[in-house]
Amino acid sequence: MDQSELEELLSDLPLSAARYYPQVSSTNDLAARWAAAGGPHLALVVADEQTAGRGRLNRRWYTLPGSALAFSLILQGEILALEREAIPQVTALGALAACDALNQDLPTRVAAQIKWPNDVLAGRRKMAGALAEAHWQGEELQAVILGVGINVAPASLPPAEALDFPATCLEDVLGYPVDRWSVLHAVLARLLGWLPSLGQPGFIQAWEQRLAFHGEWVRVSLESQPPLEGRIRGLGPDGSLRIQTRDGKERELRLGDIHLRPVDRL
Ligand code: BTN
Repeated sequence: MDQSELEELLSDLPLSAARYYPQVSSTNDLAARWAAAGGPHLALVVADEQTAGRGRLNRRWYTLPGSALAFSLILQGEILALEREAIPQVTALGALAACDALNQDLPTRVAAQIKWPNDVLAGRRKMAGALAEAHWQGEELQAVILGVGINVAPASLPPAEALDFPATCLEDVLGYPVDRWSVLHAVLARLLGWLPSLGQPGFIQAWEQRLAFHGEWVRVSLESQPPLEGRIRGLGPDGSLRIQTRDGKERELRLGDIHLRPVDRL
């Protein structure tokens, strides 16, 4: 891949600009810098390798050369009118787009699901993640940078000691080599398709339909509170996670600093 091949690949999508880099620190950082320097809505940064990729909760995200997809999109326009609390939903936009592309746009269906809020799982292992970062000037939102990372080839899998959840990659699930650039095209097309419905009931419903562990017992670690166990009941109208605890009560967990994992319980 190079700059002109990327432009050719994406020429049928309504992006405003695209930049390809063989190596970056983090595509989210480059996109943020570009936005600060006037980079427009729907400008895209794609990298073959990230040396300081990051995930939610400041976790490291590995992107080794030749093996994965890592890209970030500058979002402005109507996104800038979002309430502060709604911005984490942008992360779900990335997860939803990756999930749909993996399920609908490849020769074989991956059966991907979304581990609330932003992880894309296949066979209960993490294959992709999304990270939305808001950039403010005072009280004014300047841009939201939405980054998506997808493990494509086995070399993309993070080292075992760095795993906080079991991981997998697309080629291991499909059992054959995949052209990662066609996956990039598919995910971007899905993302642009979902963008106008961000936060609307149809968007939340689609997110809910793809929820992993729906109806199952999960343990949720909340920031500075004891972990909570309960069954996933679905999503609230703002994308919060509805959990029913053992005493039958329902709690709505807001998007934020939360870790979620399944527990072995019937
Ligand atoms: C997560 O699972 O917590 C989110 C992972 C997001 C990774 C992507 S890769 C492209 C973009 N650049 C980054 O540094 N992070 C995101």
